[in-house]
Amino acid sequence: MKVIKTNSYQETSQKAAEIVAEQIKSKPDSVLGLATGSSPIGMYDELVKMDLDFSKITSVNLDEYYGLAPENDQSYRYFMNEHLFDRVNIRKECTFVPDGLTADPEKHCAEYDQKIIDLGGIDLQVLGMGLNGHIGFNEPGESFPVGTHLVTLEESTIEANSRFFASKEEVPTQALSMGLKQIMNSRKIVLIVHGKAKEATLEKALNGPVTPHLPASILQLHPDVTVVCSFNE
Ligand code: GLP
Repeated sequence: MKVIKTNSYQETSQKAAEIVAEQIKSKPDSVLGLATGSSPIGMYDELVKMDLDFSKITSVNLDEYYGLAPENDQSYRYFMNEHLFDRVNIRKECTFVPDGLTADPEKHCAEYDQKIIDLGGIDLQVLGMGLNGHIGFNEPGESFPVGTHLVTLEESTIEANSRFFASKEEVPTQALSMGLKQIMNSRKIVLIVHGKAKEATLEKALNGPVTPHLPASILQLHPDVTVVCSFNE
């Protein structure tokens, strides 16, 4: 595992963007696994400035709130359009985000896993990490979730994500999340972590025991992870 500690969010975003840009340049038809949350926003801004060719890229997103329509400005589909897809020349039909309105989550999740297999797997997966060490929406628990699944969000995650909503009551209580199998099968991973509040959790995830109580710790078992982090606010 490679850990790049920088002095600012700006620098973290720049470094992460360089890794994604390198992937796009070396394999223009890459399958990118993409993440939402505040952590990758700066990286998306940098990627847009780099004027890369996304015309052959396919993307699969980690997760989506269950119950939110793509047009809802809190949905992760909306987030991706706003921060990246509408700003680069990616073909929208080649961007995949779990469907927050699916009537049959189990079937949809199985199809999402199959889609990733059909695409030949993920070349580079971008990850953020929640305050409780979750990746995607794989929350701490007794076992590592394997496939894409419907998750009931932890109270602490609802609390943490409520900053993006008008009130805590509006935060969906469930989400669809890629599982750890798809994440761990990615050929490369870049994990972006910013902020003092996450420093101790990241330290445990990288150097403590690999445990489902801290989902990000599983990344220790992946052969090609780069962590880009900064802890100053
Ligand atoms: C959300 C997302 C995760 C993200 C995490 C951290 O819950 N599902 O994919 O990594 O939050 O968010 P932030 O980067 O805003 O701290």
